[in-house]
Amino acid sequence: MATALKLIPRHIAIIMDGNGRWARSRGLPRIKGHEKGADAVRACVEACGELKVEFLTLYAFSAENWQRPKTEVFALMRLLERFLKEKTAELLEKNVRLQAIGRLTDLPAGCQKQLHESIERTSGNTGLTLILALSYGGRLEIIDGIKSLLRQIDSGHIDRAMIDVDMFSKHLYTRYYPDPDLLVRTSGEMRLSNFLLWQLSYTEMYVTPKLWPDFTKKDLFDAVEDFGRRNRRYGAVEN
Ligand code: IPE
Ligand code: IPE
Ligand code: MG
Repeated sequence: MATALKLIPRHIAIIMDGNGRWARSRGLPRIKGHEKGADAVRACVEACGELKVEFLTLYAFSAENWQRPKTEVFALMRLLERFLKEKTAELLEKNVRLQAIGRLTDLPAGCQKQLHESIERTSGNTGLTLILALSYGGRLEIIDGIKSLLRQIDSGHIDRAMIDVDMFSKHLYTRYYPDPDLLVRTSGEMRLSNFLLWQLSYTEMYVTPKLWPDFTKKDLFDAVEDFGRRNRRYGAVEN
């Protein structure tokens, strides 16, 4: 299946949504959906590795998700820490380099420590770059970018007349990565939920009704196949 795909996105971003609904439909607590969702991440990373996708950004926890009940937030943070602890060896084995974007200092200390350790241990890997968006908000990222730009202006490193799209992009959390080519959202919701607002300007979107815990390798291949049929014009006229 994977080999038949002709056009492979360099960067795929995914809004992993629907864990709570998956659990509710089975009469289970929401956290069971998050736990099952962590398994779907594994399949997705594998699929991207097979396709030779270079970057995979996963929206794992938004800046707005802190508003959820404390018990759910706490369980999610514990799950994140456990996931990182248990999966780092597998990331090393699969040559995956882990990165993270967002206000990472908002995370509990134990999570931060484990995250930095996993990032450090996988930093020499040359395969897929897996970027976790944690305590991430697109508007916050733009605000942080503006502040960073202002610091450089105040210190005389740059002149405000030099500011352009490329320069601003270099002040975002994503400065080391290309913009996503394909955005996947599960659970049928047709919204961005404050994800990569700047970077998704010309990204192709793919929404599937499948809930994230049910998302399989085949679903990712289907999304990539669909992407291969898109006609990206970037506002210009077709040749
Ligand atoms: C996505 O699933 C995971 C996170 C936002 C952490 P949800 O928890 O949003 O699941 P639904 O949307 O309520 O079904
Ligand atoms: C977006 O899902 C955030 C993540 C998947 C981490 P949400 O479930 O938080 O988004 P809304 O509330 O449906 O917009
Ligand atoms: Mg949701």
